[in-house]
Amino acid sequence: MLRVGICDALRVLLLISAAVPSIIAQIPGIGRCPPNVQVQSNFQLPDFLGQWYEYERYPFIFEAGGKCTYARYASLPNGTVSVYNFNINSITNRKSDISGTAKVMAPAKLLVRFPGMPDFVSGSNYWVLGTDYTSYAVVYSCTDFYSLLNTKVIWVLTRERKPSESVISQARQVIDDNKLSKLFLFKTNQDNCPES
Ligand SMILES: *[C@@H]1O[C@H](CO)[C@@H](O)[C@H](O)[C@H]1NC(C)=O
Repeated sequence: MLRVGICDALRVLLLISAAVPSIIAQIPGIGRCPPNVQVQSNFQLPDFLGQWYEYERYPFIFEAGGKCTYARYASLPNGTVSVYNFNINSITNRKSDISGTAKVMAPAKLLVRFPGMPDFVSGSNYWVLGTDYTSYAVVYSCTDFYSLLNTKVIWVLTRERKPSESVISQARQVIDDNKLSKLFLFKTNQDNCPES
């Protein structure tokens, strides 16, 4: 989930190959990250912690997202947040997980790092655009490349592995309110997953 850019080179490729005029303003983007994205007001980090399932995300990177994906967040004594991501490779069925930490930069704005990953991969911003804490959260990350291009990632996270339609429509409203595209959202396979 927070594995933004397992392979940033691939993202740039995706970005170039998908540079069709109608989507230029979205993902991938030309220019800097959009300046007017709003995060959840009065964000309550303690209520946001715990487990979230990945309902859908973008961009779609060939199988990199895997299936049965979830994340767990917990507070650490030094004020940072522990991040645990789990998924199952859709092709090999192998379980994979990764742990990292997130630093709170501002309310609803975190910076996530996974140890052992190069800085440009591991220092990903992680903004909570909207959440009701109990059913859905919309998380956003945008990265500039030399001020010329940007790539955006959006995750729709849900407390339940199989959320209701009304939960999803609330989450999508957050995306609409920020004038971000929903075209690139791909649903994460959460079928036949192990209990977790
Ligand atoms: C906070 O503690 C965690 C877990 O011990 C550690 O991995 C992380 O580097 C620490 N972060 C800071 C900023 O001290």
